[in-house]
Amino acid sequence: MKFFIDTANLNEIREAQSLGVLDGVTTNPSLMAKEGITGKNNILKHYVDICHIVDGDVSAEVIATDYEGMIKEGEELAELHEQIVVKIPMTKDGVRACKYFSDKGIRTNVTLVFSPGQAILAAKAGATYVSPFLGRLDDISTDGLNLIQEIRDIYDNYGYETQILAASIRHTMHVVNCAKIGADVMTGPLSSILGLLKHPLTDIGLAQFLADYAKGNQ
Ligand code: G3P
Repeated sequence: MKFFIDTANLNEIREAQSLGVLDGVTTNPSLMAKEGITGKNNILKHYVDICHIVDGDVSAEVIATDYEGMIKEGEELAELHEQIVVKIPMTKDGVRACKYFSDKGIRTNVTLVFSPGQAILAAKAGATYVSPFLGRLDDISTDGLNLIQEIRDIYDNYGYETQILAASIRHTMHVVNCAKIGADVMTGPLSSILGLLKHPLTDIGLAQFLADYAKGNQ
């Protein structure tokens, strides 16, 4: 499973990259705003800065909601850097734009997906990635992991090549459970990745090894 980090914070991206396990970055307009990145030129520059830190795919989201606007913006984003993946919302115009980009060989990430039907449309439009938001479903007492499983089953039935990018990951167990289901990618905060390190027996075992070494090497 590929690990993407879901942030526009350059320090967090650098920290995840330095671990050696990062495969890409996802951003969205809310994450850019959280970092205080505003204005078109600053936003475009920030995407390029992110591409220079990581080796993998970097999702950059269009703001336009109409077909023509998405095409114009998406083409501009794709030209910024070869690592850019154009992120498009799951709407009627978004599906049309996804098909346009996939026909042109421009990679896409269809976002704001909350149902298996939406995921079928994204795959048929040739999306590179589909982003089901599991945490936001959990937030409204609906099983987000079940959606990932349903999409996995459907895509496997037909051999769809669209990669399932489990988004809106909130914690470490989401990461582990997505891996068990067979999500192709997960995107989450740095804490969801670092949480995978933790086990008390690892800490206790290491302390014991160091204590025993110290006893024999005084
Ligand atoms: O980038 C899209 C998604 O991962 C957002 O997550 O935590 O805002 O629901 P969240």
